Amino acid sequence: TSPCWEARADLVVVGTGVAGLTAALRARELGLNVLVVTKDAADGGNTRWAQGGVAVVLGDIEADSVARHVDDTLVAGVGLCDPVATSRIIGAGPAAVRRLQALGAEFDRDVPDGDRLARTREGGHTAFRVVHAGGDATGAEVERALVTASRDGRVPMLEHHTAVDTLRTPAGEVTGLLVLDANGVPGILVAPAVLLATGGLGQLYQATSNPSVATADGIALALRSGAPVADLEFVQFHPTVLYTGSGARGRCPLVTEAVRGEGAVLVDARGDRVMAGVHPQEDLAPRDVVSAAITRRMAALGDDHVYLDTTHLTAAEFRRRFPTVLAACLTVGVDPSVAPIPVAPAAHFSCGGVVTTVDGRTAVAGLYAAGEVARTGLHGANRLASNSLLEGLVVGTRAAESVAADLALGVPSERRLAACQPVPTVPVADRDTLQRVMSRYAAIGRDAEGLAVVGSVLDVSAVDRPLSTRELVEDAALTLTARALIAAAAAREESRGCHVRDDFPATTTEWARSLTVRLTPSGQP
Ligand code: SIN
Repeated sequence: TSPCWEARADLVVVGTGVAGLTAALRARELGLNVLVVTKDAADGGNTRWAQGGVAVVLGDIEADSVARHVDDTLVAGVGLCDPVATSRIIGAGPAAVRRLQALGAEFDRDVPDGDRLARTREGGHTAFRVVHAGGDATGAEVERALVTASRDGRVPMLEHHTAVDTLRTPAGEVTGLLVLDANGVPGILVAPAVLLATGGLGQLYQATSNPSVATADGIALALRSGAPVADLEFVQFHPTVLYTGSGARGRCPLVTEAVRGEGAVLVDARGDRVMAGVHPQEDLAPRDVVSAAITRRMAALGDDHVYLDTTHLTAAEFRRRFPTVLAACLTVGVDPSVAPIPVAPAAHFSCGGVVTTVDGRTAVAGLYAAGEVARTGLHGANRLASNSLLEGLVVGTRAAESVAADLALGVPSERRLAACQPVPTVPVADRDTLQRVMSRYAAIGRDAEGLAVVGSVLDVSAVDRPLSTRELVEDAALTLTARALIAAAAAREESRGCHVRDDFPATTTEWARSLTVRLTPSGQP
């Protein structure tokens, strides 16, 4: 099929979550002609599902400081965070949250109509610093505010349009994007700047907190554009998604870590505490530690879930603070004020991604990235809870500013040109097969043998297909990203953060560095 339609912009933003819409709004403010494209409805992505909140030090709590927030982030990241990037992103947090409030986002307050925002705590935080909205519906409020501001500001948005590949000059500079419209008709968006804000990759696994759109699209777009990715082996498993029955599949409702922040504890089927004696912070240890401990306890007892005991909260307190979790629990017949909530770990967040500066620049001219798809160095081997909405706000803003600054330097005329081209043909594996082997061999607890099995299964299952539908684009992205992830996971012969190697259980100084993956000329990671 040949592309048959065309649009032009200074900046094309791919994705409409916190990073994408923040960037688009800032780009508009800076006078750029911006065009936003998303493969689903504007609010169809991961941001809407975030519960806990935004980790930020607003300066009104004496016992807390930006330096302390930075330290907690570095500790959670187990030696792989970039300390400079971490300080810069966290230091920019308060201004980013105030900008979001100015756009209309309403956070919960200590007392109704009071001045001070309410704070909660999550795993790895040594202070109450997570601001939230609607109790446990923070992402929904952030997304509502950003979508409303974008619509009010008439930011042009192509919904139900799928990004297939970047357009590039012979020298490899990005000049736009090849997309499929809502009817699957290919077209090109010609632009000297493309910002990837496509979110995560939870759909690599059978059970995930992520919605169905989280198919690693931006990782694949970046790799095919020649940009390196890093830290991909660090997939964070959230310790507590709601366990809804044997063989949980697809999007599993999150039970926010803030429930443990408000005093809930993890217990096994015998009623024994899971986290007692495992870590000094017990149930509020960093997330990788809690997920690994639950996984070990489930294996020891032959169980497929544990329980979160929240019965210290009254029914009214639980309903006020965690309405989203309560609604999910009630759908499976669990009343958290009288019975513990059945929970299990599930794939939640990609700590790695497309290598970028804190200003969203990648190694490829014209290509930028922000949000979960990017690897700025903030998360290292394990992201600190609620640092991701913060990163999206900060880096989304800065990425738009980078584009404006780069374009102001002047763009060679060939970067404003692009020709229609056919959709590429690339290897595509069967999604169910891929999710099954990734969940079995590349989740929490991996070894060389299992990772090799994933590689062999992908070799057999993958068939060259033209990327002519959204589903094929998604499956191809999952296939390429799975390959990149298992290459990194096999190379890292140690355990660190979210990367747990059963055959290399120790954390070693030799591996206190990030692993970068790029595509070979034959298209292999
Ligand atoms: C949660 O609320 O537990 C999730 C927050 C996050 O992933 O940062």
